[in-house]
Amino acid sequence: MTHAPINATDPAADDPAQGLRHDLVASLQEEGWVHDPRVAEALAAVPRHRFVPDAALETAYARETVSIKDDSAGASLSCASKPAIVAMMLHQADLAPGQRVLELGAGSGYNAALLSHLTAPGGQVTTIDVDPDLAEHARTHLADAGYGHVRVLCGDGASGHPDGGPFDRIVATVGAFDVPPAWLDQLTPSGRLVVPVRLAGDASRSIALTPAEGYWRGVDVQMCTFMPLRHSSAADPRRVLDLTGDDAVTLWANQDQDIQPESVRDIFTDKRTTTWTGVVFGNNESFGDLWLWLALTLDNSLSRMPVAGAATEAGGVEPMLRWGSMATTAPSGQRGLAYMTLRPTGDRHELGVIGHGAQGAALAERMAREITHWSQHYRTREPTVDLHPRPHLPPEPEPGRFILTRPSAHLVVTWRQQPPL
Ligand SMILES: C[S@@+](CC[C@H](N)C(=O)[O-])C[C@H]1O[C@@H](n2cnc3c(N)ncnc32)[C@H](O)[C@@H]1O
Repeated sequence: MTHAPINATDPAADDPAQGLRHDLVASLQEEGWVHDPRVAEALAAVPRHRFVPDAALETAYARETVSIKDDSAGASLSCASKPAIVAMMLHQADLAPGQRVLELGAGSGYNAALLSHLTAPGGQVTTIDVDPDLAEHARTHLADAGYGHVRVLCGDGASGHPDGGPFDRIVATVGAFDVPPAWLDQLTPSGRLVVPVRLAGDASRSIALTPAEGYWRGVDVQMCTFMPLRHSSAADPRRVLDLTGDDAVTLWANQDQDIQPESVRDIFTDKRTTTWTGVVFGNNESFGDLWLWLALTLDNSLSRMPVAGAATEAGGVEPMLRWGSMATTAPSGQRGLAYMTLRPTGDRHELGVIGHGAQGAALAERMAREITHWSQHYRTREPTVDLHPRPHLPPEPEPGRFILTRPSAHLVVTWRQQPPL
C-alpha cells in the first residue's frame, strides 16, 4: 500500500516531541492504520504529550494506551486510547471542515483536539465525560494545547447533549452494550455515529452507522476493545474473576454471561482434556472474526482470560497468546472451562481447545466444532453489523445471521455464507 506523506516537514531536531510524533505517524501509515492524508496531518499536528502530562515523552508517543486515572485497585478508569485505534476511529468518522461533532468520553481531551483539527475551519466540537476530574483535566489540557474552543461538559454521555444538537457526527470513545436512542436522535438526517459496541461476551467492534431505510447500516466495522460506560443509564459492568487464588489467571465476566465464581475457582487443578481442531492460522492472521463467531454461538459466550507469564511458565496453563487466551464456561451450577491453545505445525499454528472440570471435555468439543464450522463456511467473509431501532423488527435469524436484542435496538451481525468449495 502507498501512503501519502505526512504534511509535517522535517521534524525539528530540537523538538523531541515533534520527532516522536512524526515517527509515530509514519509507523501508523506504514501499517495501514492511517491512509487519509488529513488524518495523518492531524496526528502530526496535535501534541499528544500535552494531554498526558504525567507520562514520559516516549510513553506519550508509544503505540499503547496511556492511563490518566486509576481506581483504588489499580484498574484504569480513563486513558488516552492506542494511537492506532484513535486513527481507525477518525477514519470511521469521515470528518470534514465545518461539521458539528459530539464526543462521548472526553478522557484526556486528545481525541477531541483531533476532532477539532479535522473539522476546522468552522467546525464545533463538544465532548462529555461522566467524571468531573476528567472533564476538568480535558478542559485544562485542551486550552493548554490551543484547543480552548472545544466545549467540555460533565454528565452521562448516554444522554448525549440534547440542547446542543443536531450533530453531523457523534463519536463514542467509551464502550456501549446498548446504543442509547439519544445518540441516533441527536444526529442530522445524513449524520454518522461511531461507537464501540460490545456485541457478545468479550467481542467488541467499533461500528460506523449511517441512516438507511428504517434502520442504521454499519458501513465500517473494526476490531477494538474499550472501557465500558459507567455511572450511566447504559452502564455495562464487568467482573474480573480470580481463577487461581493469586490473580495469575483471571476471567472477565460480562452482564450477558452467567458465570459463578465457584464453578471456575481453581479449575486448572480439575481433570484436563485437549481437543485439536485441524484449523491452522498463519503468524499474522487475526483471530478476531473467529472470536466473534464463538462469542455469538457458544452457550455462555466467550470471555477474555488474561494469564500472567509465570502461570504459563509453570506449565499448568497453555494460552494461545502471550497475554492469555479466550475461554468459555459451563452453564450456571456446573463446573467447567475451555480455552484456546496453539501448537506449531510447519510455519503456522494449529488451534486446539483445552477443557477442565466435569463439563470441560464437552465444552472443548463444542468449541472445537464451532471453530471448524466457522473455518469451513465463514472464514473468508467479514461480518457486517446493522442496527434496527426498537420497536422496528429486525430480519429473521438464519445461518450466519445473529440478532442481538438490547433495550433500545436490535443489532444484526451477518456473515454471508461462502459458496461451497
Ligand atoms: C478510553 S477513555 C476516552 C479517551 C478520550 N477520548 C481521549 O482522547 O483521551 C473513556 C472515557 O469515557 C469516560 N466515561 C465512562 N463512562 C462515561 C459516561 N457514562 N459518560 C461519559 N463518559 C464516560 C471515562 O471516564 C473515560 O474518560
